[in-house]
Amino acid sequence: MKVLVVGGGGREHAIAWKLKQSPRITKLYCAPGNAGIADVAECVAVGAEDIEGLCKLAVEKEIDLVVVGPEVPLSMGIVDAMNEKGIRVFGPNAKCAQLEGSKAFTKAFLARHDIPTAGYQEFTEKEELLKAVGIYGYPMVIKADGLAAGKGVVIAENEEDAVKAIEEMMGDKIFGSAADKIVVEEYLSGIEASMLCFVDHNTIVPMESAQDYKRIFDGDKGPNTGGMGTYSPSLVFNDELQERIRTEILEPTLAGFQKDGLDFQGVLFIGLMITDNGPKVIEFNNRFGDPETQSVLARLDSDLLDIFEAVVDNKLAEQEIKWGERRAVTVVLASEGYPGSYPKGREITGLGDVDEDIVVFHAGTKFADDKIVTAGGRVLCVTATGATHDEARAKAFANVERIHFEGAQYRRDIGLINKH
Ligand code: AMP
Ligand code: GLY
Repeated sequence: MKVLVVGGGGREHAIAWKLKQSPRITKLYCAPGNAGIADVAECVAVGAEDIEGLCKLAVEKEIDLVVVGPEVPLSMGIVDAMNEKGIRVFGPNAKCAQLEGSKAFTKAFLARHDIPTAGYQEFTEKEELLKAVGIYGYPMVIKADGLAAGKGVVIAENEEDAVKAIEEMMGDKIFGSAADKIVVEEYLSGIEASMLCFVDHNTIVPMESAQDYKRIFDGDKGPNTGGMGTYSPSLVFNDELQERIRTEILEPTLAGFQKDGLDFQGVLFIGLMITDNGPKVIEFNNRFGDPETQSVLARLDSDLLDIFEAVVDNKLAEQEIKWGERRAVTVVLASEGYPGSYPKGREITGLGDVDEDIVVFHAGTKFADDKIVTAGGRVLCVTATGATHDEARAKAFANVERIHFEGAQYRRDIGLINKH
């Protein structure tokens, strides 16, 4: 089978790396890919948001299955566009993609179907929102409704910070039209976990859980990023919690999709807060998480292509999905200045010095002559597996230290237990 992966980050590298292990793949393409993805797939210079160009590419290369990594093309309707042309594609259509594309849409869905989540209100007028500052007390959770590359959420500790965030979002429009609407939520305390699920029209199957580190600095300090590291499985999960998540969140979500005519096919990423009152949904994303995918797929023993096809054919219920006992830890190396502005084009060295059983997934890299240079905010994801969590963690950091580029930053506390 010929498969095209759309995207060019660490998540897409992990997807392509895992797909490449399938004996049924005859040719793997990635658009646009990056310098690391080029090891496992033929990279084609078509942007992940160039829907027309991607459709053309899929037809031209006679692609049997397209797998869409990032949220933006999903929200733009890549799946609908490809389906119209008879191209098989793994990912939710535009209607379902609103579950990530609009926080207000998801909050209304959760409320309508009695799925546990934080209380909320939505605002479209800056003046009204300024009057409502502190409605749920502090910290105040302020979210741009639309897509903002994982940076559209501000947890304001006091009134001054809240007003500043509102002015930036609705006055200066730092997220453009994504913050024309703002959702304000009750603050939930607890332990976060990411649960990625395969979903087709009839079935929802959770993958192994993961823990993400969203803030830029150690000890969960500094602004939110796309994710600075992960480990899998999450250490807070036990059978009782899994069962509560199944009955209180997964089953009502699938039933809600069916009731609302949301024909979801793809990956539903559920951001969970495990509170004293049980698990609650923080957010839905409609794609694999980045960098959750790197840790989660490193533990998958089944053929990922089989699973993707089962989803597309609505036969997920028949698909066996096997996970290894091994633990995984992923540490992200980011550019100086990230998540703010950052330089590009810095030479990366030491990629050849990592141990054989380590996978270095590339997030933002490209070739410059015969060198590999930085080309994004998140640059590399170093994923290690081990028989125990501590072994995986130690291996990840030992190898991170062998890779260099000027200004590289990474969190030292990824996978450190008791940090919460
Ligand atoms: P989101 O993009 O909605 O996942 O939000 C980004 C991050 O903000 C989450 O991973 C949480 O750490 C935090 N967050 C979002 N909503 C809440 C909430 N209601 N209470 C506490 N923390 C939250
Ligand atoms: N790591 C969080 C996300 O992919 O949204």
